[in-house]
Amino acid sequence: MTYRSVRDAEVSGKRVLVRVDFNVPMKDGRVGDDTRIRAALPTIEDLLARGASIILVSHLGRPKGKPAPEFSLAPVAAYLGELMHRPVRIVGDVAGPQAQAAAAALRPGEVLLLENVRFEPGEEKNDRDLARRLAALADLYVNDAFGAAHRAHASTVGVTEFLPAYAGDLMQRELDALRRLVDEPARPYVAILGGAKVSDKLAVTGNLASRVDSILVGGGMANTFLLALGKPIGKSLAEPDMVDQARAVLDDARDRGVEVLLPSDVVVAASLDEAGNSIPIQSVSDVVAIYDIGAETASRYGERIATAKTVFWNGPMGVFERPAFAEGTIAIARAVAKSDAFSVVGGGDSVAAVEEAGVAGEISHISTGGGASLEFVEGRTLPGVAALEASAER
Ligand code: 3PG
Repeated sequence: MTYRSVRDAEVSGKRVLVRVDFNVPMKDGRVGDDTRIRAALPTIEDLLARGASIILVSHLGRPKGKPAPEFSLAPVAAYLGELMHRPVRIVGDVAGPQAQAAAAALRPGEVLLLENVRFEPGEEKNDRDLARRLAALADLYVNDAFGAAHRAHASTVGVTEFLPAYAGDLMQRELDALRRLVDEPARPYVAILGGAKVSDKLAVTGNLASRVDSILVGGGMANTFLLALGKPIGKSLAEPDMVDQARAVLDDARDRGVEVLLPSDVVVAASLDEAGNSIPIQSVSDVVAIYDIGAETASRYGERIATAKTVFWNGPMGVFERPAFAEGTIAIARAVAKSDAFSVVGGGDSVAAVEEAGVAGEISHISTGGGASLEFVEGRTLPGVAALEASAER
């Protein structure tokens, strides 16, 4: 099964509802990082050039089905307008009377951004009524929100029941790149997993064990694995109730002949405000916490990365936003950039790390999807993509 590309759609004079992922970090009420907004521009510009009018729909944060001013997309509308040198209108509701009137008044070449779709209680429930109201605003639907394709929501799935649905440019670029990690990846295939929560990524680690040759673990999630192996982690954040599952994942990987590498040295401090100290893992005392991988670990991981033919990286190796604890993550960013492997980096912090290390241009594909890219490389079907495929079949 495959989906239809928006490039093949007749769009002149049509109203096109485009699902984008403008779930961007905000700083002091303004757009903090515009990567996802820029990534959606090719689809938007192409539709406008071909005489369409555009109704953009996105979520921002998790407002839980109620309007909340701090989650308004108004700053994003202003930012997008500046970026495109054309007005981007936003109205006060999502698919209510204001949106209906604004959509009906759109002329070719004009852009409307709907308010945060998660202000509607039906969005996350994939509610048919909301899907129908969204669809009623337009003539056709384009999904360019790869970052939200793992969510079966009204604006990513339900709406495709009511409008012919197409994949946008970004969606296609993401899927083309990520497919190389799933369909016969070049080997050795190395996955690098980090970030804070093992509960989110334990299942991922287990699923990846059936697909990759090595898994290099860092960040907070390494602590739970270290705990499972009886290593001291001091007062580091960990999830002790996940230890049995972590041990099962390690056993399963070993049985499959997949190596799971864990930190052998770490950077510790009594608190995040103090200077870090690099020590072997067995020397971690009760009064300190682990905030980064150590230099020996970074170089051991770097050796694996250097021999890889495929690399997937999601999640930082430490508290990367603090310069004192960023070195491990930066070292991994450099190692991934230096390798000849087909490399994919996903997730906000790892992407920020390759950018900060100045090596973004040397990564084969930088994904706008965090959770979506993880679920895809695990081999799961993304509901947003499945809905596009089903629409093409109808
Ligand atoms: C993301 O940032 O990964 C996507 O925008 C999805 O957001 P969510 O995890 O709140 O569904």
